[in-house]
Formats: sequence, C-alpha cells, structure tokens
Amino acid sequence: MAKKMIFVCNTCGYETPKWLGKCPMCQGWDTFKEFEPVVKADGKERQKPVIISDEELADEERVTTGISEMDRVLGSGMTIGSAILLGGDPGIGKTTLCFDIAAKLTEGGSKVLYVSGEESLKQLASRKKRLGLKAGFAFLTTNHLDDIIAAITENRYGLVIVDSVQAIYNPKLPMLPGSMGQVKEVSTRLIMETKALDTSLIFIGHVTKEGVIAGPKILEHMVDTVLYFEGDKMLPYRILRTIKNRYGAVEEVGIFQMTKDGLVSVENPSQFFVSQRGDIGEGSSLFPCITGSRPIVLEVQAITQKTNFSIPKRLSLGYDVNRLFILISVIEKTVGKPFFDRDIYVNVTGGIKVGEPGIDLPVAASVLSSFKDVTLGQDTAFFGEIGLTGEIRKIVNMDLRIKECQRIGIKKVFCPRDVEHSDGMEIVSVRNLKELFHMIGKKD
Ligand SMILES: Nc1ncnc2c1ncn2[C@@H]1O[C@H](COP(=O)(O)OP(=O)(O)O)[C@@H](O)[C@H]1O
Ligand SMILES: [Mg+2]
Repeated sequence: MAKKMIFVCNTCGYETPKWLGKCPMCQGWDTFKEFEPVVKADGKERQKPVIISDEELADEERVTTGISEMDRVLGSGMTIGSAILLGGDPGIGKTTLCFDIAAKLTEGGSKVLYVSGEESLKQLASRKKRLGLKAGFAFLTTNHLDDIIAAITENRYGLVIVDSVQAIYNPKLPMLPGSMGQVKEVSTRLIMETKALDTSLIFIGHVTKEGVIAGPKILEHMVDTVLYFEGDKMLPYRILRTIKNRYGAVEEVGIFQMTKDGLVSVENPSQFFVSQRGDIGEGSSLFPCITGSRPIVLEVQAITQKTNFSIPKRLSLGYDVNRLFILISVIEKTVGKPFFDRDIYVNVTGGIKVGEPGIDLPVAASVLSSFKDVTLGQDTAFFGEIGLTGEIRKIVNMDLRIKECQRIGIKKVFCPRDVEHSDGMEIVSVRNLKELFHMIGKKD
C-alpha cells in the first residue's frame, strides 16, 4: 500500500492531507512541502487525570544564571527543566551570551553541555579563550539529533545549549536541515527528552530577513520562553527582550554592553542611556519609562520643519505612529498651531519600543520644543498621557518614575496634576497641552 503523505506549511507548521497553494493559517503562498509522517512507537505508560492541591504544589525551582540581565528577562533566574528559545540576527552575540551562561552555571556547580552544529571544536576553544572563560563545560560538535539525545541520556546535565536549532537534523527524515519538518522534529524530541530529565534547554534560533525566527513559528509555541536579542551592530549595546514567558513578565528587557571581552550586563541603564546624550539640542526630552518591573529613563527626540512634499511626512521609531497622528491633531486643535505644512520625525533612543501612553507628554514636549526652537533643559523629564481634549492624564507607577529620575540626578519633572512632591525634586504640574506650550522656553 502506498504511504499516505502529509503536506506541512514551511512557515507556520499547518498540516494538511492535500497540497494547498495558500496556507489558511499564515496566509503564505506556496509554502507547503510534502513529507512522510513519522509515526513513533508509543511505549509510554498511559497517564491518568489527577487533582492537585496547593500543598503538593512546590514552587518552580530556579537557578540563577549569574548574569543579572539574563536572570531579569527570565523572571528571576532560569526555571529548572524549562525550554528557552533565543533568537537574533547573525553576529548579534547569541553564542557569546550562551558561552557566558554556560561558564557561569558551571562555576555555580551545574553540569552544562554546549552543542554546536555551526563551529568546530577548534573554533569553540579559541572563542572560549578569547572570552577569558575558565570554567570547564562539555562541548559536543554535531549536526545529528541522535548524538545529542544519546549524550543527554547518558549523562545528566543541568543545562543543554543547542547552537543552533536550524543546524541540527534527523538524517532519517527526507528533509534538509533547517526546514520546517526538521526543526519541528529536533525541537519536539529534545524538549520531550529534557523535560523528562529536568534538564533546562536553550535553543539558539536564527532570524530571517522578515524578522521572525527562521522557518518555524511553531517553535515559539513549543518552548516556555522566547527571547530576542536585538541591537544595532554598530552601537555598543544590545537589548534582550522577552516575547513570551511562562515563568515571568513579558515586558522585561535586559541591556548588555558589547565589549572586546564579551557581553557585560548594564546594571544602571538609565544612567547609561542618559550619559550617551551629550549636550541637548531642541526637540530632546527625557522619559522615565517602565519596562517590566524596572524604570529606565530614555531620551525622546523630535524634529519638525517645513515640508518639501505635498503631503507632510510623519515618521516614528519607538513610538506608535498612529498615536503620533492623533497627538499632532490634538496639538493643532488645542494649541492652535498648524502642522499641515511640516514634517514630523520622532525617535526614542536606545532602540526600545515604548507602548505605554505615558510617553505622550515627552513626545509632545519634544515636538513643541523643536517647533519653538528652544531647548527643554538638560535635567528635565516628562511623563503623562494626553487625552483627545489635550488634558494631561495620570499614569501608573508615578512614584517609581520620579524616584528613578531623582536617582540619576534629574532635577525637574513635568507630570500630571496632584503628583506627590518629592524632596529635592522640582515637580511641575501640567494640566493640558496649552499650558505645556506656554511653559516651554519660558525663562524661570
Ligand atoms: N574571533 C573573534 N574576534 C573578535 N570578535 C569576534 C570574534 N568572534 C565573534 N566576534 C564578535 O562577537 C560578536 C558576537 O558574535 P556571536 O556571539 O558569534 O554572534 P551570534 O552567535 O549571534 O551570531 C560579533 O559582533 C563579532 O564581531
Ligand atoms: Mg553563533
């Protein structure tokens, strides 16, 4: 009897018994590849439903990775037995970061296996030397899934790092390494094996030009935590962002500095970002933003000038462009200054995308500062949401933001009304945009 084949979408993993031109799940065209379904012999005992009580439920056990920013994004350390996907562009520092984690955990008494399907043992050794890592953790250079399974079942490891998931394959399947089917096979088998052994697992995954982890969106569903390592390769810092976390908050970000000796956690990101600012010009303001559990002071920049186009440009990096459109309308309506003949560009420095509405006030302040051609003061920060009638509204965690500003030496904060005063800090209450417009550039 002819074997029944199945068709699997290369992008999202949707399975169908018939070939389709367009995937009904991810809407991609011509993404279906045919392959033979793998039927696994199921020798496992049948599991029965159970009722659990709070007393029996122990807290998840975590180990600290010894890298403060990594622990932060994982939610105070790595949960034992969890599967983590670390994605990022080539050359961003994924291997470097995982070497650090392997070394720190080994020093802390865990047994670590580093599987590399991309570099030779010689390359790995010279990298380890270059990074100045002394800890002795095990290396396995292979592309075969079975080698890894054999190694992790023979020896009990605390952590297994797979660099990268696209480089590992099962030769028994008629598909190329890195294809959807192979990645699905590799990740499913490794996650099953490591979960049963209480071994933590980190997959390194490459990111495609479109910015998704190559091939398998499906991988994101299977792991407990998805982290993206981002940053401009020309700049000295990198951002580790949580996309999904079954064991912690998702808005958390970790900031690292890339030095010649490897990655270093930035313990004081506010100071780090503000110190990169130099002398301020028109259109620059500071915003104490909350990412996950921590406040970070960021710089918000704006330029507005007469347009050369028939329709003026509005561009924004780090701030939602639709919100910018609304904000500009509100400024036009409440302040009475027209922007129909002006381009407006907004940029949040540091590469952090801010989703909270509290950034409205610093954006408005920067736009108006550029419009009036006056600076806003070196040690001045702003926060508050702006409503459609131009009123400045309260936001969450205002005390925390003021404390963070004070900690890094900011002297003056513009914020919504009725915010509690803080010693040594000048708090300026702003009721609405019109008031803000008149305050900007006014001599004290
Ligand atoms: N042998 C080396 N000498 C100097 N710098 C290196 C060397 N290998 C890698 N780097 C630098 O370290 C950075 C991170 O590289 P790596 O951790 O290999 O990235 P990824 O694993 O994400 O592709 C790169 O920007 C690269 O320039
Ligand atoms: Mg690498």
